[in-house]
Amino acid sequence: MSLFVVNGLVKRFGALVATDHVALEVHPNEIHALIGPNGAGKSTLVNLISGLLLPDEGQIELDGAKLTTLPMEARIRAGLSRCFQITSIFPKATVLDNLLLAVQAQSGSSFRFWADRGRDPGLVEAAQALAARVGLTYALQRCAGTLPHGAQRQLDVALALAAQPKLLLLDEPMAGMGPEDSERMTELIHSLRQDMAILLIEHDMKAVFALADRITVLVYGKVLLSGDVETIRNHAQVQAVYLGTETTETAA
Ligand SMILES: Nc1ncnc2c1ncn2[C@@H]1O[C@H](COP(=O)(O)OP(=O)(O)O)[C@@H](O)[C@H]1O
Ligand SMILES: [Mg+2]
Repeated sequence: MSLFVVNGLVKRFGALVATDHVALEVHPNEIHALIGPNGAGKSTLVNLISGLLLPDEGQIELDGAKLTTLPMEARIRAGLSRCFQITSIFPKATVLDNLLLAVQAQSGSSFRFWADRGRDPGLVEAAQALAARVGLTYALQRCAGTLPHGAQRQLDVALALAAQPKLLLLDEPMAGMGPEDSERMTELIHSLRQDMAILLIEHDMKAVFALADRITVLVYGKVLLSGDVETIRNHAQVQAVYLGTETTETAA
């Protein structure tokens, strides 16, 4: 049974159909990658799923709950977390305080002052566990804005994990990373799938082929095909699409 189902999804920008009757299913504990050349509609689809945009037609369901028209906060409560392409950390706060804020926000406890937050042992423990989960224990007391790019992306993932998602949306988690950081992020994403399903939008094909259970290829807003790694890798039309866009793809 599918955990996450997108059905007949349509989004128009004027005459342009950016999302053209898209259907997509993600199974529990599956890493499902979404690929496609520039302008294929990946970001639009992610924005429709996370609630940043509303569709003109179609449905989005997570674990039986209808998300299609819900506001973003309600989608997060329903079990959907998104890691943004643009970082959502507070750069002047420590890693620990960033995590404490995220944990507190999801615990639903009423607002407490900054100074008190660090004294709640339950919150601190949860924040430390998140740091450990993404390999940032060494950096808990560091100012988040001074961390190297790769570590900031790890923190982004930890912030998304605070909501204990059923489905994690990762929008180009390897963007701007060198090979070493990319490999660390690949390992981190791999380790997450035991607890959740992941929808991964990523240009780094090495990472996609290493991680994905299944891949959906978008072209001109439509699903070209969905399949396992071998099916996608060997598909002539996919190869043509990628050979034709290889050079522009890295600049996205
Ligand atoms: N807010 C918008 N208004 C008008 N056109 C848009 C908007 N967002 C995206 N588009 C268009 O929709 C198409 C898909 O874009 P996008 O979802 O960003 O693709 P991708 O992320 O795969 O590169 C493109 O042709 C893009 O120009
Ligand atoms: Mg995009």
